[in-house]
Amino acid sequence: MPTETDRQSTLVTRFSNKYRDGQTALCQEIERSVFGCVYGATSWTTKDEAEAVAAKLELGPDTRLLDVGAGTGWPSIYWAVETGCHATCLDLPFEGLQVLLRRAEQDGVPERVAAVGGDGAALPFGASSFDAVFHSDVFC
Ligand SMILES: C[S@@+](CC[C@H](N)C(=O)[O-])C[C@H]1O[C@@H](n2cnc3c(N)ncnc32)[C@H](O)[C@@H]1O
Repeated sequence: MPTETDRQSTLVTRFSNKYRDGQTALCQEIERSVFGCVYGATSWTTKDEAEAVAAKLELGPDTRLLDVGAGTGWPSIYWAVETGCHATCLDLPFEGLQVLLRRAEQDGVPERVAAVGGDGAALPFGASSFDAVFHSDVFC
């Protein structure tokens, strides 16, 4: 019977490999045609959905957003660019966070995107650290 540690280790290996190897050209093409942009997303949250969530969360320059299981940064980096929000992106695999930080730099928002290695089940933040919390495809 796999333990919680076994399950987490399997998950980290699976996503680390995915983030390290990057997407295939075909996946990038599909992502571009569906989203209109390519972030190496693994959730398939569409751009329309991301925009609807941003409006619901009332993201703006004063918002401190926590993205749990942020992967390579979709859609938090997009939101940091579009709304000016400050996104803290938490995930377990280091490889995804590296990609995410490079992309935030490329998109001109390194000061609005922070990467934190950690477990969403044991958040390393104090109470009232954030105004909004988001995740996409993390409980799957
Ligand atoms: C399907 S991917 C989605 C990534 C990103 N949100 C996106 O939209 O592309 C799910 C992510 O959740 C992360 N994750 C799963 N369980 C987690 C946990 N307990 N703590 C932090 N991240 C977790 C995985 O490592 C993976 O990067």
